[in-house]
Amino acid sequence: VWSQIPQGPPDAILGITEAFKKDSHPKKINLGVGAYRDDKGKPYVLPSVHQAEQKVFQQNLDKEYAGITGVPDFTKAAALLAYGPDSTPLKEGCIAITQSISGTGALRIGGAFLQRFYPGAKAIYIPTPSWANHKAVFSDSGLEVKQYKYYNKDTIGLDFDGMVGDIKNMPKGSIILLHACAHNPTGVDPTEDQWRAISDAVKEGEHYPFFDMAYQGFASGDTDKDAFAVRHFVKEGHFPCLAQSFAKNMGLYGERVGAFSIVTASPEEKARVDSQVKIIVRPLYSNPPVHGARIASTILNDPALNKQWLGEVEGMASRIIKMRALLKENLEKLGSKQKWNHITDQIGMFAYTGLTAEQMSKLAEEHSVYATKDGRISVAGITSDNVERLAESIYKITG
Ligand code: LMR
Repeated sequence: VWSQIPQGPPDAILGITEAFKKDSHPKKINLGVGAYRDDKGKPYVLPSVHQAEQKVFQQNLDKEYAGITGVPDFTKAAALLAYGPDSTPLKEGCIAITQSISGTGALRIGGAFLQRFYPGAKAIYIPTPSWANHKAVFSDSGLEVKQYKYYNKDTIGLDFDGMVGDIKNMPKGSIILLHACAHNPTGVDPTEDQWRAISDAVKEGEHYPFFDMAYQGFASGDTDKDAFAVRHFVKEGHFPCLAQSFAKNMGLYGERVGAFSIVTASPEEKARVDSQVKIIVRPLYSNPPVHGARIASTILNDPALNKQWLGEVEGMASRIIKMRALLKENLEKLGSKQKWNHITDQIGMFAYTGLTAEQMSKLAEEHSVYATKDGRISVAGITSDNVERLAESIYKITG
């Protein structure tokens, strides 16, 4: 039956881990997937997560199904974290929210919702470049995927004029995907002033903003600061939708904890939107898993644990910032002729090195350093122990 099935390519990001595992080099380095590691290169379970898990366990809860939209204490707290206590639509009960299978699942529900209900042409514009999975998520949702300018490879920074120009040239009422903070893969974010101008351009075009916020807290170490773009758009009268992930900021990767929300104009509109989100979710996966959401909910709703967690997020963000500085320092010490300022200018989990696909292949083949072909490295995989070898490997390839 399946004799005609072609062999598919490995996943652009998760496929890197497979290649890494096959390598027998004792000092191999994996900077592929964006997953935080401690300074010993080990996966990190946040102490607040451990404590929350114990609290959940002590409650002796049953394993009944959650409702279609998940654990209510979790989604309520997730909305508060994203939109903030001063959010008018939140206070007025105008935000529809559902738990999701992490950020990817949130994007997929959003794609399906827009495909079904957004009026007009069903195209979504994503930045160039964007997270490697965005295109597949949205085209599998039935949306046409187009692109807008975002990154300027000459300045290794934001192509702000190109971006705003493209937004102005989109057909009226287009859907635009925006990375709320810690842009993946470039680590290049607009400034707050630039976000204000982007909001104006989106408004002028009567476009529909879809925020992907997979890294709240990871960019600056401050969850409020990282939510600036989302909150500003809401304040400006947009009605965005939002995908949230708790994979990175709580280290709940495999628990698949996320949320998808839509800002609506009234509680009555919210109720109708809610009903349709349920109709989308039910045939997809029925209802979401409860364990991870209970952990996240415990952390978000317990003031002491919440405070502790914010400190831990800050700790992860600062280790990453330190590793950026160390990598740059080591490259400079080696006498590299290239400029590496972008490594410390960029924020979030990734550095977009500017290395070509060919150089990335060499890094893997000759130095057992694995990262994605687009030149992105997960800074979270750099440690005090491997940074020198990493810098040497990059230096040998780039001069
Ligand atoms: C990444 O970009 O590495 C992460 O978002 C993990 C993933 O699922 O791709």
